[in-house]
Amino acid sequence: MRYIRSVALSVTLILLMAPVTLKAEEMMKRELFGRTKWGTNIEKITLINKKGIKAEFITRGATFCAMKVPDREGKLADVLLGFDKVSGYESEGNQYFGCIAGRVCNRIGKGQFAIDGKKYQLYINNPPNHLHGGNGNSLDKVVWNADEVKCDQGGSVKFSYHSPDGEENYPGNLLIEVTYTLTDNNEVRIEYYATTDQATPVSLTNHAYFNLAGAGSKTVLNHELTLNADHYTATDETLIPTGEIAPVKGTLLDFTTPHLIGERIDKLTDTPWLGYDHNFVINRKGDGLVQAAKLKDPQSGRVLTVFTDQPGIQFYSGNFLFGQKGKQGKEYAYRSAICLETQHYPDSVNKPDWPTVILRPGEEYHHVCVYAFSVD
Ligand code: GLA
Repeated sequence: MRYIRSVALSVTLILLMAPVTLKAEEMMKRELFGRTKWGTNIEKITLINKKGIKAEFITRGATFCAMKVPDREGKLADVLLGFDKVSGYESEGNQYFGCIAGRVCNRIGKGQFAIDGKKYQLYINNPPNHLHGGNGNSLDKVVWNADEVKCDQGGSVKFSYHSPDGEENYPGNLLIEVTYTLTDNNEVRIEYYATTDQATPVSLTNHAYFNLAGAGSKTVLNHELTLNADHYTATDETLIPTGEIAPVKGTLLDFTTPHLIGERIDKLTDTPWLGYDHNFVINRKGDGLVQAAKLKDPQSGRVLTVFTDQPGIQFYSGNFLFGQKGKQGKEYAYRSAICLETQHYPDSVNKPDWPTVILRPGEEYHHVCVYAFSVD
């Protein structure tokens, strides 16, 4: 019996690893996912690679909504939190699951900033601060256009959105493009571009929640994390950076070597962060892609490696998840998923010494993030 199982297993593995030749129309599928409460159609786009791996996206929030990847036995599991219907994404249970966050992701202190002497006041949707672009028309809530993109590295879809001058009180007409590519190496490459007709702050991110044991698994505290970051941006009690770039050495934030997420987290429970909710300063020499993080589920062997050209990465341990029901009715328990959001440091618009988030006419905002899935 054991012999038969091992033969079946190796056959499965060979079939899974065997590259299949796909026609262009087989690398991308478009279908109606549902309608918003205002009656607007929301489309789902599925990208398929030569290994038969699928990545799914919806036009609401240009959201990365599903990604089934194999474990060390070849068993597939969807590692992304999300919903089966548009109403789920419109519900209170949606805490930015998989969306593009912005115009400025993370926090802006008191929602205030000034550019060239002109002051702006954004909505305070996370009192006392502004978070993830604001209220009703933040980028996670608007409907983006989706276009197929020819790419020799697997299927690609380009989401685009024109954020009009004054949307969520941000200045300037901002034209945004976010292209997701599923490569044949089971990587999801996210490439962001934006241009503006007035000086305005821009810092976009993808807010995917991962559990490598499969979305809906009880906890993410058993995952092992490594962060390529010797420093973090220390914050006040409202999670606004003080301006200090502090060393992680000797602190509960030192993930320069692998640690289980649950190993030290309880010592952070009575802090303003309520767990991990920190921006880390990625070690880098010069520009270009560097490895920022590596997350592993020792049980399944699934690994997520994050590369980016951005200065920072927010590590958030799902401290606000409360058991909301997601895909297939699964409950998303407290700390049952982790976010690794590549971005500029929080509140950079008010930190003149930090890498700037101000985009001016004639300049181009550009950001690359690669989520690479593998097994160990
Ligand atoms: C970011 C923030 C967290 C939380 C989540 C969304 O990760 O840093 O504090 O607001 O978004 O719930």
